[in-house]
Amino acid sequence: MLNLTQYNSQFQEIETPFYFYDLDLLRKTTGAAKDAISGTNFHIHYALKANSNDPILKLVKEEGFGADCVSGNEVRKAIEIGFKPEEIAFAGVGKTDKEIKYALGEGIFAFNCESMHEIEVINEIASGLGKTANIALRINPNVDAQTHKHITTGLEENKFGINISELDQVIEKINGFQHINVRGIHFHIGSQVLNLDNYRQLCLKANELVKLFHSKGMILDHLNVGGGLGIDYEDPETNPIPPFADYFNVFKNNLELEKPLDIHFELGRSISGQCGALITKVLYVKYGIKKNFLIVDAGMTELMRPALYQAKHKIISFSGSIDKETYDVVGPICESTDSFDVGIQLPKSNRGDLLALLSSGAYGQVMANKYNMRDDIQAIYSSDL
Ligand code: LLP
Repeated sequence: MLNLTQYNSQFQEIETPFYFYDLDLLRKTTGAAKDAISGTNFHIHYALKANSNDPILKLVKEEGFGADCVSGNEVRKAIEIGFKPEEIAFAGVGKTDKEIKYALGEGIFAFNCESMHEIEVINEIASGLGKTANIALRINPNVDAQTHKHITTGLEENKFGINISELDQVIEKINGFQHINVRGIHFHIGSQVLNLDNYRQLCLKANELVKLFHSKGMILDHLNVGGGLGIDYEDPETNPIPPFADYFNVFKNNLELEKPLDIHFELGRSISGQCGALITKVLYVKYGIKKNFLIVDAGMTELMRPALYQAKHKIISFSGSIDKETYDVVGPICESTDSFDVGIQLPKSNRGDLLALLSSGAYGQVMANKYNMRDDIQAIYSSDL
């Protein structure tokens, strides 16, 4: 993120709260990811769930990424933006019949299937439409992502994926299905993963499982290792671009596949996370008995991550004061969890001063809601200023 405080006077003219997106940083980020995979058979699908605003998607598409979708509407949006159907993966534990029919009609790259029952239903629907569904089996690898429990997905207690112990049975059954083409296997261990050794563990599992599939005569064309690469929420100004080279090297160095498969990645947060900030204004300063509160005009309705996952987004102030004070920064919503941070030192702030919550480009605006009949939150792009 550029030095945001340079926009102070322009931001003062805009109704707060709003999301600000630095498209130059987004382009640098996609560029760094592309550089890290150049000359390999690696393909990146951008996970729309992280941020599906048109300018973000257009840029990501222009940069040559595919799309990773988790609903029929995301598939539709990706197609509207211009992603080719054969670059679209469709995941999710609860795809509806309507979504399956739509995606089958569009001829997407693969349904990432999460249960035997889902595969049966897709086979039936495809049969009714006279089509064959390309699928990847999402396997639960039982690899710990060592992240917040609410964004861990690859453990046996999670609802995601087919368990390894069921695989023999599943493969046998699928072999009898006329309208299913198993193209690949898929994993996703969780999100905001910082310890890259977890991906090494995933590679070791993937090596074993690809072997198992080949030993059963199943010809795969790809391995999809999901997403999850974490970003630096503590010091985003120093580390605006995630460590893509280190991340992809783990896969280059640890995947040992007998046959060369295409390797697909589904990255969301690491692409769009650092380019966005939530800009909010101080409404009131409340000096309490034990604490001082900055009451701001954005709340958990605009950025839910702190309330939902105890996530911390670095807060910077535009106040310009050299005096510091300790504040809890809280929103206007009638919930005690509507708090962005507690006991942080910030420049002394007054009514009307702006604050920015950094690293909010992923899972920020997309998770906004209207609780308390809040207004829709608008997006401002660096190219608008
Ligand atoms: N692929 C699958 C199958 C996923 O479930 C996800 C994220 C991704 C890819 C993209 O993961 P990423 O690269 O963005 O970590 N709302 C939470 C994050 C939920 C992630 C859900 N799945 C948060 O605010 O931290």
